[in-house]
Amino acid sequence: MKRHRVATMAALACAAALASGCAGSSGAPRAGSSAGASVAPDADVQAALTHACYGCHSDSGNLSWHAKLAPSAWFAGSARDKLDFSTWRSLAPDRRLDALRSIDRVVRSGEMPPWDSALLDAATKLSPAEKERVAAWASGEGGTTR
Ligand code: HEC
Repeated sequence: MKRHRVATMAALACAAALASGCAGSSGAPRAGSSAGASVAPDADVQAALTHACYGCHSDSGNLSWHAKLAPSAWFAGSARDKLDFSTWRSLAPDRRLDALRSIDRVVRSGEMPPWDSALLDAATKLSPAEKERVAAWASGEGGTTR
């Protein structure tokens, strides 16, 4: 019974992921994917962004299958319209500054990562220490890697 429901939800999430152009739903580790597009010079900040944000905000689509069940993950396409770390390096400086300001705001307020994805998969969560680091990077109008 329960299993069936979960399978149905997974199918829905997969359909949504496919519709938003998300390849490879296997949840396998993404060695050598475009997640290599690092945006923060600090390795800890980069690691936090990669596990907590890139799943929805980059073309690497690294969400696990359970995180993909989160309704917020179904809108990964619109998430990337607002913020796409894959194209970070080509952003004009003022756009980058805008992006950093919104990252600072949503991370401090706890708006991002979305609670539903964090509930379904701890990998999309930020620890309090990570939250601090990411917010400090974003509000420092961050050094970004080139
Ligand atoms: C499970 C998917 C998911 C994850 C993980 C996620 N986001 Fe989002 N994010 C979204 C969606 C969907 C939107 C678009 C919401 C909307 O249109 O209102 C969004 C919007 C945003 C925005 C734009 C907000 C605005 O008001 O314009 C920022 C900035 C952002 N996310 C930052 C982050 C950061 C930083 C992380 C990691 C700490 C993160 N997100 C993790 C799904 C996600």
